[in-house]
Amino acid sequence: MTESLPHWYLLGAGNMGTLAAWYLTRAGHAVSVVTNSPTPPRHKQLIFSDQNASLTLPCVSPAQLPDTIAYLLVASKTPYTEAALRRVSGHLNSTTQVLRFQNGMGALDGRLPPGTNVLEAITTSAVKGQSPQHTIVAENTTWLGGLSQPPEWLAGLQRHWPDLRWEADIRFVQWKKLVANAVINPLTALHDVPNGALVDDPALQQAARALCAEADTLLTTLDSSWPGNSFSAVLQVARATAGNTSSMRADRQRGAITEIEAINGWLLRQAQRHGMDLPTHRRLIEALTPT
Ligand SMILES: NC(=O)c1ccc[n+]([C@@H]2O[C@H](COP(=O)([O-])OP(=O)(O)OC[C@H]3O[C@@H](n4cnc5c(N)ncnc54)[C@H](OP(=O)(O)O)[C@@H]3O)[C@@H](O)[C@H]2O)c1
Repeated sequence: MTESLPHWYLLGAGNMGTLAAWYLTRAGHAVSVVTNSPTPPRHKQLIFSDQNASLTLPCVSPAQLPDTIAYLLVASKTPYTEAALRRVSGHLNSTTQVLRFQNGMGALDGRLPPGTNVLEAITTSAVKGQSPQHTIVAENTTWLGGLSQPPEWLAGLQRHWPDLRWEADIRFVQWKKLVANAVINPLTALHDVPNGALVDDPALQQAARALCAEADTLLTTLDSSWPGNSFSAVLQVARATAGNTSSMRADRQRGAITEIEAINGWLLRQAQRHGMDLPTHRRLIEALTPT
């Protein structure tokens, strides 16, 4: 007998939440958006390089949730995670499987019932747009990990989600993405430049080098097998995305709160726990945090 496929309750039906919902529903999973008030279903348009697709996601209000949510997908921007989780408060327990689709680290720490399993998703895909229209800028690799075993539904999902991989130890994949985000995002936001400026501008490259060195020192302290060498990895990302506007630069241009607390802030908090300082990261956080 085959197990029934998950019904996901989605917090954050933005760019990433919609992309994930698209592949999950292709694979036969159900996805409902959790909103604060009863609303009509959300019609979404996804623009891929080779096709346009539309998707309709049912919406449920907190009052319509099941007693216990078995599968929760969190794709809110990190500063809004706490507010989003309030919508599902009282409906989670340690059996809930949570899939976190966010940049940065730690946005769910201390916010879930003790013992809750969190699957972490890291993607190098890129989606931009404003609901209901989401444009897939790049479809690259997505890694899932964080559990001792891959979930039983993964193999079925991999048939529909291009280059979706299981990573037994997701931490280094997360850290690599985290360092790229911690260098490219705040520097391009502060100087209001595209990602490629880190390759072309010697002063920015110098700043990037200092940020990478601090991050590598910390991550090596956390795990001595961290390969380091982040500077060349970050430059590679900046080169490959030279014309792009980072999400932090875009947030700052709109006057929106950025994800810096979950990115550089996480590095700084880890450093403080180990009696270390990351002065270049600290100064960037100060420069980008509205007073
Ligand atoms: N877009 C990408 O290419 C990409 C790539 C890799 C990782 N990520 C990460 O994925 C996560 C989601 O990013 P995204 O691009 O999907 O973000 P998004 O479309 O801008 O927003 C996602 C959701 O966050 C909540 N949100 C955003 N702005 C808000 C505001 N001003 N006030 C209250 N809530 C707000 C909304 O949730 P509700 O709908 O519930 O209100 C929104 O649907 C982030 O951590 C991002 O760094 C994104």
